[in-house]
Amino acid sequence: MKNRIIITGGCGYIGSHTVIALIEHDFEVIIIDDLSNSNEQVLERIKKITGVKPKLLNIDLKNSFLAENAFRYNKDIDAVIHFAAHKAVSESVQKPLMYYQNNLCALVNTLMAMEKYNINNFIFSSSATVYGNPKTLPIKESNETQRPFSPYGNTKKMAEEIIDDVVKANPNLRAISLRYFNPIGAHQSGMIGELPNGIPNNLMPYITQTAIGKRDKLMVFGNDYPTKDGTPIRDYIHVVDLAEAHVLALNRIFSKEKDHNLEIFNLGTGEGYSVLEVIEAFQKVTKQKLNYEITERRDGDVPKLYANVDKANDILGWRAKMGLEDMISHSWQWEEYYHLEKKN
Ligand code: WQD
Repeated sequence: MKNRIIITGGCGYIGSHTVIALIEHDFEVIIIDDLSNSNEQVLERIKKITGVKPKLLNIDLKNSFLAENAFRYNKDIDAVIHFAAHKAVSESVQKPLMYYQNNLCALVNTLMAMEKYNINNFIFSSSATVYGNPKTLPIKESNETQRPFSPYGNTKKMAEEIIDDVVKANPNLRAISLRYFNPIGAHQSGMIGELPNGIPNNLMPYITQTAIGKRDKLMVFGNDYPTKDGTPIRDYIHVVDLAEAHVLALNRIFSKEKDHNLEIFNLGTGEGYSVLEVIEAFQKVTKQKLNYEITERRDGDVPKLYANVDKANDILGWRAKMGLEDMISHSWQWEEYYHLEKKN
């Protein structure tokens, strides 16, 4: 029998790519998603790519009654991968309570339902934002975390602390937290990708939307950082590589080697690129001219953030396969697909 996995937030950007990876590795997937920042249409695209249309439970996990029912009526769940969360940094600064309520209540309700129905395998979607502005680079998992600059980031840090407490109290629970660096890119089919609500916060969707003509120009937030060209450096990671890491994390959780503690893994390439390098690579790969302008720094941006990924290499056997050019060409392919689809 196939292992049956609940993926909360499975219609979203990283969730949907992970659903594809799991189906391709012969897992059975049930998605829980409130569709607050995603679209049901993604299920048909997953079917086109994999031949399987996953079951969707359209449920808001903030509601503890609904969260519990989802687990009551879907039996024999082997593990949960928890993506469901709001993720816009600037929105979280405007509406901190909405972020704390949504991201933390959904997590607590999911863990409570799991405990009630004796489901003991849990993977959490975390973020490199928990490192704040690190003193040493590349960052290892053993580096200290700091209070993140935004309520969004803080929900990730608090969530890891909650999971850590729950793991300590429940010796049966086996949990892994995956700290993503900067996920970009899209599925190679061009049919699935990031779909930001409104004006994008993040660099890559802003670049592709500018190149396709949806935005006037890209603002580069500051070129006076202590980096090679003055713009901040990040560790961009292809979303399909990221999705594969979840499959390996599941294998790890089901294996005997997994120890009882909450295990944490960085997921990046280990390589840092500046904003100007990304822009240059985009223009080269896509042959599009990008309209951009250097403006003021954005609050909360750190100069440099890139990962040491030895732990994921050694323990999960995971390594990013795709480089910046793949990330850019797949992001662009997705933007063009989406643009054409909307026109037709
Ligand atoms: C990258 C670089 C910007 C937009 C955030 C979250 C993190 C994770 C990923 C996920 C920075 C510059 C950006 C623009 C720009 N979260 N930039 N013009 O800030 O590293 O990380 O997204 O859900 O938790 O904090 O990513 O893509 O926003 O920025 O110049 O219009 O691009 O200043 O240097 P960031 P980003």
